[in-house]
Order: sequence, then C-alpha cells, then structure tokens
Amino acid sequence: MRFFAVASVLLTAAVSVFASPVVERQTPQSAAVVLTSLTNTVTPLANRLLYATTANATQATLTPIIGDISTAVTGAVTSLNLLVGQPVDIILASVDGTTILAASDIATLLSVVVNLVFTASSAVLLVVDITIYSVIYSLLSSLGGVVFSLISILLSLVVGLLSPLLILIAPVLSIISSLGLTTLLSELLGGLL
Ligand SMILES: *[C@@H]1O[C@H](CO)[C@@H](O)[C@H](O)[C@H]1NC(C)=O
Repeated sequence: MRFFAVASVLLTAAVSVFASPVVERQTPQSAAVVLTSLTNTVTPLANRLLYATTANATQATLTPIIGDISTAVTGAVTSLNLLVGQPVDIILASVDGTTILAASDIATLLSVVVNLVFTASSAVLLVVDITIYSVIYSLLSSLGGVVFSLISILLSLVVGLLSPLLILIAPVLSIISSLGLTTLLSELLGGLL
C-alpha cells in the first residue's frame, strides 16, 4: 500500500514537471488573431450603443454593454501581453498562420476596433438623457482609457504601427478629445516626434 502511495505521489510530481513547460511553450495568439476575435466580440455590443435611441439608452441597459466591451478589450490586452519578447513571425502571423503581416495590416485591424468603440461612444452620448449623461460619460471615458492600453501594447509590439494607425483613426481623434482623453492622445502623438 505504502509503495503505491509513494509511487503515485512521485508519478503525479513527474507528470506535473513535464506538463507545465508544455503549457508555457504553447505559441501565444498573434496580434491579428487577438484583434479579429476582439472585433467579433465588440461589434454587436458597440452596435447597440451606436443605434441606441432615447427610449433604450438607459443607465441600466448601457452600463453592462459598456462593461462587456471593456472586459473584452482588457482580455485582448492580456493576450497581447503574452507576445512580449516573442519573435516577429509569431507576433505578426496572419489569422490562418500562413503569412506574416505588415505593420499597416495590424493598423487596419486595430483601427476597426478603435473607430468602432469611439464612434459608438459618441453616438450614445448624443441620445442619453441629461440626468445620466455624466455617469455614462465617465464609463465611456474609462473605456477609452482601456482602448488606449490596447493601442499602447500594440505600439510596443509592432514597429512602425503609429503612422498608419494615426491616419486610420483620424476620424475619431476629436471624439477622443471630447471624452477627456487628450493627455493619452498627446502621449500617443508624442511617439511620432
Ligand atoms: C435600441 O434600439 C435600437 C432599435 O431597435 C437597437 O438597434 C439598439 O441596439 C438598441 N440599443 C440598446 C442599448 O438596447
């Protein structure tokens, strides 16, 4: 009995010794995979904000939607953090893994999410009742901050991303400012100087 108990403990230890490096060695998802999946999650949520009406733009309806978008973006940032220190062909792998994308391709994928979130934020603020405006404004401003952390991790992963990105997100720069995110914006623009 004793032998089997000890053997079982050793076996468990041996299995875990071999199991954990395998998990760590798994290739992280590429930036394109993370951004495509994020866009798929965020699109239906952002559309609810984009097409919100004075009738359904209530605090109770909007709060969980904004929360879900924020959670999705935070999750993407967590996934992208796994790419830090990885080789370029892993970071820039296409969704199907067959090619290596250019910085401008990543800029396009990222701009879709950025433009979607900020356009939706701007649209919903136009229809919310004055009594909940400041609450919703704060939630959207915080969400904007989370979007900036997404931009920031990608700028650190993808060389040459900023210039093509700025052209693509130009339409929402005024919305970013109106959400009180001017400091984050100028830090971003500072990267060009
Ligand atoms: C509000 O109603 C419109 C029209 O039906 C719909 O498209 C939109 O998704 C709704 N938004 C919310 C926040 O429920």
